[in-house]
Amino acid sequence: TRPLKVALLGCGVVGSEVARIMTTHAADLAARVGAPVELAGVAVRRLSKVREGIDPALVTTDATALVKRGDLDVVVEVIGGIEPARTLITTAFEHGASVVSANKALLAQDGAALHAAAGEHGRDLYYEAAVAGAIPLIRPLRESLAGDKVNRVLGIVNGTTNFILDKMDSTGAGYQEALDEATALGYAEADPTADVEGFDAAAKAAILAGIAFHTRVRLDDVYREGMTEVTAADFASARGMGCTIKLLAICERARDGGSVTARVHPAMIPLSHPLASVRGAYNAVFVESDAAGQLMFYGPGAGGSPTASAVLGDLVAVCRNRLGGATGPGESAYAALPVSPMGDV
Ligand code: HSE
Repeated sequence: TRPLKVALLGCGVVGSEVARIMTTHAADLAARVGAPVELAGVAVRRLSKVREGIDPALVTTDATALVKRGDLDVVVEVIGGIEPARTLITTAFEHGASVVSANKALLAQDGAALHAAAGEHGRDLYYEAAVAGAIPLIRPLRESLAGDKVNRVLGIVNGTTNFILDKMDSTGAGYQEALDEATALGYAEADPTADVEGFDAAAKAAILAGIAFHTRVRLDDVYREGMTEVTAADFASARGMGCTIKLLAICERARDGGSVTARVHPAMIPLSHPLASVRGAYNAVFVESDAAGQLMFYGPGAGGSPTASAVLGDLVAVCRNRLGGATGPGESAYAALPVSPMGDV
């Protein structure tokens, strides 16, 4: 069988892990897919950085030329941000490749248009890594639960803020002190705004709500409140009530079934609730559905190797689809339920 050709856009913390695992697990990947999976090119911003284990002949700074090659089966986008990622993904579809992306911001903003572009060219768009790192959520919601009716998705989808809140809760530290520790340990970015103001969690909530309820939810539809105002005193009073404070993403179908809501804000939860015991930078998501009842997904929600695990799972799925001449589930906007900003909170 012919080898499947894969291009990697971005070779940072996640991309370099994807490349490493593709090399070290090449035989296993080939066995699972049914054909060798070959790294055909790697687009980076700067050539000067040393990239261990990657053939320098594969590395280029011209991502556009790479996605236009015409012989690629899959493009893996781990650059992040809206542009140039959006144009590169669209160009990849136009030139016959399927796409695996880890880009939550882009999917939350332009998911519908990207799905349409994939559909138009008969290609796949998979993005398990965009929400909660290694934790399988997108495909369970899109595939395993496709015959059920999901009513609620509730969870901790940002590791940085969970680390900070957990630190405040367990040590009595203030917000700034806990944030400084998160930064020192490499959890928080130099600019932590996207995490602490809830934008990162809101993007993930938009993606989850869209898939769970088979409709379109964009970042702008999600009510968002960050956790920068939570104080040590708030934790003390929460404790007094047998509770703790978590930054939650809450996606719900209205009781009458006619609309959906998605929101992100700090919330008090009883210490007896399973989400209360999610420590450090871990993520956990509760899914409630008619037939399955309550499901909980738990694990590392960030980091190079956990995120690479999700990317590689998608890569295997997309490669199998390519060989079988099929595509996986596409846009999930069947019902197009209206999204109301807060709904019946
Ligand atoms: N900044 C994110 C987090 C990374 O802390 O969860 C994963 O999306």
